[in-house]
Amino acid sequence: MATRKIASKKAVRKASPKSVVDTSLQYLLFNASDRRSDHWSELHILSGKLNSVGVSKQKTGELHARADALLTQMAALEGFWAFPGKALFGAAVDALQDADYGYFQHVVTRISNALKNESYRRSSEAWDLNSDAEDDTLTIPDYHNQRGSQRPYFEVLAVVAGGSEEHLERVRQEIRSLRRPEDPFQYEFVFVSNFEDAMMATLVNFNLQAVVIYDGFPYASDLEFPELNEYLRRHMPVTDSLSNEDYATELAYRIYRIRPELDAYLMTERSVEDLAGKDPAPNVRRVFYGAEEMMELHLSFLAGVGERYDAPFFENLKNYARRPVGTWHALPVARGKSIYKSHWIQDMGQFYGANLFLAESSATSGGLDSLLEPTGNIKLAHEKAARCFGADHTYFVTNGTSTANKIVVQGVCKPGDIVLIDRNCHKSHHYGLVLSGAQPLYMDAFPLVPYSMYGAVPLESIKRTLLQLKAEGKLDKVRMLLLTNVTFDGHLYNVRRVMEECLAIKPDLIFLWDEAWYAFGRFSPFYRRTRTAMGAREDLAERYSSDEYREEYAKFKKSIGKIDISNKKALSSRLLPDPDQVRFRVYCTHSTHKSLSALRQGSMIHVNDQDFNEDNYEAFEEAFMTHTSTSPNQQIIASLDVARRQAELEGYEFVTKQILLALELRRQVNNHPVISKYFRFLDPVDLIPARYRQSGFEKFSAPGVTWKTVTDAWDEDEFALDPTRLTLVCGTAGYDGTEFKALLADKYEIQINKTTRNTVLFQSNINNTHSATAYLIETLVKLSRQLDSRLARASAAERAAFNARVKSLTEDVPDLPDFSHFHDKYRNNPKSKTREGNMREGFFAAYESKNCEHIKLFSKEIDDRLSKGPELVSANFVIPYPPGFPIMVPGQVISRGIINFMRALDVKEIHGYHAEMGIKLIKMPKPRATAKKR
Ligand SMILES: Cc1ncc(COP(=O)(O)O)c(C=O)c1O
Repeated sequence: MATRKIASKKAVRKASPKSVVDTSLQYLLFNASDRRSDHWSELHILSGKLNSVGVSKQKTGELHARADALLTQMAALEGFWAFPGKALFGAAVDALQDADYGYFQHVVTRISNALKNESYRRSSEAWDLNSDAEDDTLTIPDYHNQRGSQRPYFEVLAVVAGGSEEHLERVRQEIRSLRRPEDPFQYEFVFVSNFEDAMMATLVNFNLQAVVIYDGFPYASDLEFPELNEYLRRHMPVTDSLSNEDYATELAYRIYRIRPELDAYLMTERSVEDLAGKDPAPNVRRVFYGAEEMMELHLSFLAGVGERYDAPFFENLKNYARRPVGTWHALPVARGKSIYKSHWIQDMGQFYGANLFLAESSATSGGLDSLLEPTGNIKLAHEKAARCFGADHTYFVTNGTSTANKIVVQGVCKPGDIVLIDRNCHKSHHYGLVLSGAQPLYMDAFPLVPYSMYGAVPLESIKRTLLQLKAEGKLDKVRMLLLTNVTFDGHLYNVRRVMEECLAIKPDLIFLWDEAWYAFGRFSPFYRRTRTAMGAREDLAERYSSDEYREEYAKFKKSIGKIDISNKKALSSRLLPDPDQVRFRVYCTHSTHKSLSALRQGSMIHVNDQDFNEDNYEAFEEAFMTHTSTSPNQQIIASLDVARRQAELEGYEFVTKQILLALELRRQVNNHPVISKYFRFLDPVDLIPARYRQSGFEKFSAPGVTWKTVTDAWDEDEFALDPTRLTLVCGTAGYDGTEFKALLADKYEIQINKTTRNTVLFQSNINNTHSATAYLIETLVKLSRQLDSRLARASAAERAAFNARVKSLTEDVPDLPDFSHFHDKYRNNPKSKTREGNMREGFFAAYESKNCEHIKLFSKEIDDRLSKGPELVSANFVIPYPPGFPIMVPGQVISRGIINFMRALDVKEIHGYHAEMGIKLIKMPKPRATAKKR
C-alpha cells in the first residue's frame, strides 16, 4: 500500500472567494448528492488512467487537467459533507499537484470506494489513508443482514463563524473524545461559517440529523451558486429588520421550513434565557451557553436522534417475540407451534420465518397494546407519528385508507350535513357518506377527454358552490370539503390556497384531504407547505397569527365588499379569511403502505382540528370503533411505527431521490430518438389546462427548465403535476392501456396498475432504483425498435391499419360524463340550485327488491327510457376499477353521457355492475307528461 504523510496545509485548498459552481446541472438543487458521486467515480477512473504505464505525455497532460478541473469544481461542494473532509480531500489535491499519480490513485480509490460502499459510516479506517484495512463490502442491499447491526451514523451541521482550520479540528477532536462505547449512534461534524452555506448544506447533505448554531455569523457565502442563491433569497428573505443577532434563530427557523425533522441547538455567549425566550422555531431543542456544556451537547445529539429512531411498538413486539409465552387465547399461528409441528405446512414456516409467528398475538397485554384503546406503546407510536406528519393526533389504521376514509367521514358528519366532494374521490368516501347519512354535493373535476381521465376540481367552482349555498341559507349545514390530493394521475391542489379561500367564505369548514398516495409529500420542501394538508395548515396558521396579515386582511376587507354570490369580485379575487374567525379543522388520510415502508393496508389518519375535543372527538372514536377490527394485525401496526422512523430519519433523502429518478426517467423517454416516436410521458402542459397553470410552466424536461421553473410553478399555480406519477401515452404505439399493461407484465415482468384507453400510469416511489429505471427505458427502446422494424416491413394496408388503430385510440375517445344530478325524490328541495342529495335513502331503497329493476346496458330499452322516460335512477354504486370512483351513485339520474361512457368502458372490473343482469335501477313511476329535463 502506498503511504505518505497526508494533508499538508498548502493542499487544503478552499474554494476561492466567489468561485462559481457548475450550474449546468438541470436540477442542481436536487441532485448535488448524485452529481457528487458521479464526480468521484469519474475521478477514480481518471486516477487509474493517470497511473497506468505507457500513457503519452500529451494524454497525461489532458487527464491531469481534467482531474484538476474536477477537483476545483468539487472543492466548493465537498465542504457540505463530513467525508472525505478537508484532510483527505487535500491529500488528493496535493498528490495531483505533485504529479504523484500512484498516491493520487490510492487516495481517490479509497475515498470513492468508501463513498460507494458507505464504509465511512461504519469504520474509522475509511477515514485513515494510512490504514491497511480496506472495507470491500458489496454495495448491494443487505437482504440477509450479513453486515450485522452496526451503529447508525449521521452528521451534525455546525454553523461557526471565523474558526480557523485548527480550531475546528480541535472542536471535532474534543467531541470525538466524548464518544462512549455505549453510544447508540456515531456522528461527525460538517462546519460552515455563514447563513447561506448552512442552508446549502441543509438542502444537499442527506446525512444531517442535527444542527448546532453558534451565535454571531455573517449571512453571505463565499461561494456563488447562481440559481441556488436566488432560491435561498426568495425562501428566506432576510429583512432589514433582522440584525446579525437574530440570524441564529432565523436560521433555525429556515432550516425547519426545509427539513422540520432536523434537531437544532443554539449556542450563544449572550444571555441564554434571552435567546430561549425569543419564541424559537419548533425544531430548537435547547439553547446552550458557549462551549461550557460539550457533554450535554453530545448527549443531546444522541437523544434527539434517539427520539426519532425509537419505534416503541416495534421494539416491544421484538421483545415480546423473544420471550417464552404460553398462549391460551385464539390465534393458533401465534408462536408458530401449529406450523412447526405440522407435517404439511412446514413450508409456510420456512417461507415467512419464525419471527412472524413469534411476534403474533391476539393479546393486548405483556408489552403489547390495544389499537382500540391505546394506553402504552401504540399511544406513544401515535404521538411520534403525529409529530412526524405535523398533526395534533395520528391514528393507525390496519385496513387501508379505504377504512381510514370511512372513519373520518362517519366521525365528522351526521345525517343532513352537506359535504362538498369531488365525484372522482375514492369509493370509500361515498360509502362513508351513506353510513353517516350526510348529503353529498358532487363537484366536477375538469375532464381530460383525450386521455380518458379527470383532473381535479377548480377552486372557482368550489367557491361558487359555497356562495350558492350561502345564498340559499344553507352554509350552516355545510360540514366538510373532501378532495383527493394527489389524484391518481398526479394532479396536486394548491392546498394552501384552497383552504384560505374557502375559509374566507365559511371560517369553520372542515377539510378532509385524501392523501392516500401522498404520505411521502411531507418529506420534500417542494410539496410540504403549499401542497400537503398538514404543511399548508401550519403555513396558514403562522400567516394568520402575524401582524402583517392583519393589515393585509383589513385592506382586503375594505376592497372586496360583501362576499356573496352576487359579488363578481368574490369569485375572481383571491379571498382572505378573517383571522379572528378562522378555525383550523383539517384531516388527512395516508395509505402509508402506498408510498412509505409500511406493510400493505397500513394507513394513518392525521388530525389537526382545533375543535376536535369540543366538537367531535367522541363521534370520531365511535367511528373508529365501528370500522376497526378487534384483531388488528400486529405486523401492520409495527410497520407503521417503523415507516414513521424511516420517514423522519431519511424521508428527505429517499423522497428527493425518488423525485430525481422520476425526472430523469421523463427526460430519457421524452428525449429519446426512438422511444419518443411512439411513447411519451405526459407533462403539465398535457394534463393541466393553461388557465390553471398561471406560471406558464409546460414541460419538466424542456431545455432551460431548472428547479426554479418548477418551484415557481408549484408556489403559484392552481394545479401542479406530481413528477413522480408518470402517465405514458401508449395509444400512439397502437396499444390500448389494458393491452399494454398485460404486455409489460407478461413479457417483461414490469407491473403497473392504472390504465386508460390510451395511457398507462407508472408510479414511482422510494423503492425505485436506477437499475429499475434503466430496465424500463431498455424495454421501451426494445418495443419501439420492434415497431420500427414491423412498420418498415409493413404493406400499405398494414400501415393503414396501424394508423387507424392509433387514430381510434387517440382521437375517437368517449366523452367523460359529469355527475348528472340526484332524482327529485332524493332531494330536500328540488328547486334548489345546489345539488346535494340524500344518497343514503336511495341506497337503502334498493334493499327491497320490489323497488328495483335491471335493464341490460346494450338494450334498446335503455335508449327508449333515456328518450321517453321514466328517468333511469341508479340503485347502487357503479365503480369501474381502477381507478375506483363511482360513475353512478344511488339515487342519481343516469344520463345518456353516462350510458355512452359505460358502453365504451374497457376495464375488466366494474364493481356494482353485472353485465348478465344489466344496470340496477330504482323503479320510477311512469311520467304523466315527459320526463323532466335538467
Ligand atoms: C385516492 C384513494 N383513496 C383511498 C384509497 C384506498 O386506499 P387503500 O388501498 O389503502 O385502502 C385509494 C386506493 O387506491 C385511493 O386511490
